[in-house]
Amino acid sequence: VLMDTGITQMPRHLVMGMRNKKSLKCKQHLGHNSMYWYKQSAQKPPELMFSYNYQKLIENNTVPSRFSPECPDSSQLYLHVDALEPEDSAVYLCASS
Ligand SMILES: *[C@@H]1O[C@H](CO)[C@@H](O)[C@H](O)[C@H]1NC(C)=O
Repeated sequence: VLMDTGITQMPRHLVMGMRNKKSLKCKQHLGHNSMYWYKQSAQKPPELMFSYNYQKLIENNTVPSRFSPECPDSSQLYLHVDALEPEDSAVYLCASS
């Protein structure tokens, strides 16, 4: 789905081996102060992984330490991933409010 939602995620698709370190980037230009990463596995509702408010980590749900979020400013959120496991195959959704 491509819409001008005021929020973009890069890259749209990421295929990686289990040894690389990569990052997903999310950027919003809506002036929102809260940003979120969700994980959505097949046939399941999205699960909240991390949330930030004014760049402060508010929620850190039990996700493996190979996932690390970074919020360099209020409009950007990264999800760094390292040494993935097969169960990490999912859709990672960024949101803001
Ligand atoms: C989230 O919590 C885990 C377990 O306490 C910790 O190891 C990890 O560093 C935390 N992540 C962040 C981004 O603070």
